[in-house]
Amino acid sequence: MVLGVLIAFAIVLFAVARTMGADSQGAAVLLEPLHLAQVQKNIAPFAQVAIAGKDNSALAALSAPAGAAPAVNVPTSGEQAFTQVCSACHATGVNGAPKVGDHAAWAPRIAQGKDTLYKDAIAGKGAMPPKGGTNWPDATIRMTVDYMISLNK
Ligand code: HEC
Repeated sequence: MVLGVLIAFAIVLFAVARTMGADSQGAAVLLEPLHLAQVQKNIAPFAQVAIAGKDNSALAALSAPAGAAPAVNVPTSGEQAFTQVCSACHATGVNGAPKVGDHAAWAPRIAQGKDTLYKDAIAGKGAMPPKGGTNWPDATIRMTVDYMISLNK
């Protein structure tokens, strides 16, 4: 009898969770900007072909990070840096960190101008640790801020 009640209760909870999840999952999970970026990366072609006589400058940018061994584990692109460290807080909005894709949270910050964002990202602000807790060069932090801004335009 007791077991039966518990099992019935579990089934009801499961059904309720399913119905509530159905409304929010599409927007919150599948349309998450980081998820979309990951999907784009996964379905990108493996190889790029350079064509003689055509503009191949985009390929140079693609192959550069692979050849240049990062000196002291410094990421070579804003996206890399973001994924390694900044996303820990900025992907989920930990401690009031402005979440990527949350335009309402970013619009007033972006409106302060890039120089203020660079300065706050490097020196820290509130619960945001200086340089996100890394010892990366200022230029890397600025590159990462640029990348974060591009995710929130
Ligand atoms: C430990 C969590 C954490 C990490 C890691 C982190 N941030 Fe933040 N970040 C925050 C919080 C919290 C705020 C909001 C601070 C405030 O407005 O009081 C913030 C705000 C910012 C802002 C907006 C500043 C402004 O002027 O409004 C930028 C830009 C930023 N972070 C960039 C970065 C970059 C780049 C990295 C990675 C190198 C990073 N963050 C890593 C927590 C974090």
